[in-house]
Amino acid sequence: MIKSSGLKKISTAVFISGTGSNLRSLIKFSKKKGSKFTIELIISNNSKAKGLNYAQKFKIKKKIIDYSRKQNIDNKILKNLKKYNIKLICLAGFMKILSQNFIKKFNGKIINIHPSLLPKYKGLNTHQRIIDNKEKYSGCTVHFVNSKLDSGKIIIQKKVKVLKNDTANSLAKRILREEHILYPKALNKLYSNL
Ligand code: GAR
Repeated sequence: MIKSSGLKKISTAVFISGTGSNLRSLIKFSKKKGSKFTIELIISNNSKAKGLNYAQKFKIKKKIIDYSRKQNIDNKILKNLKKYNIKLICLAGFMKILSQNFIKKFNGKIINIHPSLLPKYKGLNTHQRIIDNKEKYSGCTVHFVNSKLDSGKIIIQKKVKVLKNDTANSLAKRILREEHILYPKALNKLYSNL
């Protein structure tokens, strides 16, 4: 059996916009014995994202991309990915849409987590829409990113029951707990043969 510790780990960048609880779970996962990943870079469009604190806490490089400047966003991101030799991008609550050009350049190496059972409830405000439509189940999905929003190939999903008294908030919290388990599972599934 090949020991993964003898292999080069996959340099990963995590893109965030907010709290970064999925980022935290990915960092913890990357630090487990035998892990095939290292989180080398955190990218955020939001300089106030709470999740950026994990950069300091875990000594990971961070880069803030100012989307209001609109110019050369792709190049700015690509420059940083190159600098840290990034081979995999995990979107974790990243609320900006990557350009088609960028996605093409990183084809098959960008993964996202979405808080619904895709292909249902793409886009924003998923939990409120689930409640409004009186759905019995929701969940979360890890999928590859392609040029269409929340539409790339599904890697893994977890179903979560919607409870009678759920609000968008309580449902979001319960699903988020499952997300923290599902994202590392997806990476294991994709890369377990390395
Ligand atoms: C998560 O629920 C994630 O699935 C969702 O944002 C939250 C981020 O939480 N992502 C999207 O809605 C993407 N369209 P976190 O910052 O604590 O990981």
